[in-house]
Amino acid sequence: MSEFLLERIFNKVDTIPTFPETARRALELLRRDELDFRELEQVIKSDPGIAVNFLKLVNSAAFSLPQKVDSLLKAFMYLGTDQIKLSLLASVSGKYFSDNLTGYGISAKDIWLHSINCAFITEEIANELKLSPEKKESLYIASLLHDLGKIVLDLYTNLEEVKFHEITRENPSWDFLQIEWFVLGVDHGMVGGYLLKKWDFPEDITFAVRAHHDADLMIQKKVSAIVGLSNILANLMGITGGVDAFKYKISSKLIETLGLTTKDLEKIMFKVLKRSMFLENLVV
Ligand SMILES: [Fe+2]
Ligand SMILES: [Fe+2]
Repeated sequence: MSEFLLERIFNKVDTIPTFPETARRALELLRRDELDFRELEQVIKSDPGIAVNFLKLVNSAAFSLPQKVDSLLKAFMYLGTDQIKLSLLASVSGKYFSDNLTGYGISAKDIWLHSINCAFITEEIANELKLSPEKKESLYIASLLHDLGKIVLDLYTNLEEVKFHEITRENPSWDFLQIEWFVLGVDHGMVGGYLLKKWDFPEDITFAVRAHHDADLMIQKKVSAIVGLSNILANLMGITGGVDAFKYKISSKLIETLGLTTKDLEKIMFKVLKRSMFLENLVV
């Protein structure tokens, strides 16, 4: 791959909207032991786009609230901290997944559902492993944004569409990552990690996004191991992030690193399936 193309790919990174400061400040408040709803309301209100999306989401069938909620304060009271955080991240991440990824053959809705379900999975794993609230937050964000690099690379998978199809036909056993490397000389984990680093995200998040397809790299840290596992599990459950979904396997090293059993994984997948069913009809 030419230096020129690589440069163009990384330049495209600058055209992706940055992670909203409002969401970042809100997440900071949500991390505190004593949450002040009024303070949180002021922060979320400062970005009308986020506030509107948030209300739209909590009023959707997914949350089955007893009545329509028209104020942020009421929504907070119904939802509680964990749900507020998830709704906030869901509405923010929706902004990145608003276009179909045509080069990858994934619709905007599918990549969004894939990302949200990965967040559900990481949450269930974190509960199983009794992780700290800080780790849980890193996991939410890293799993929601793990495929961000696909948005950047989609432009190029489109440009090189013929070549992509040719390589895929000639190498039926390859996954999308191998094809990305062959055609573009970079993969979407690397591009996503680079982007989040540029936005000053904490190291455990950027590393997890960077490593989510690299079996050796992901097991070096707990957060990256869980994000990598969540991506494979979501794909195996049919909540796919691309046409190569079923080519990814769970390595025994990964399971050993996290100290999980097959039974644990079954339990986690069952819980996630129940939670994810209501998301199907949701449009953010
Ligand atoms: Fe991925
Ligand atoms: Fe993924």
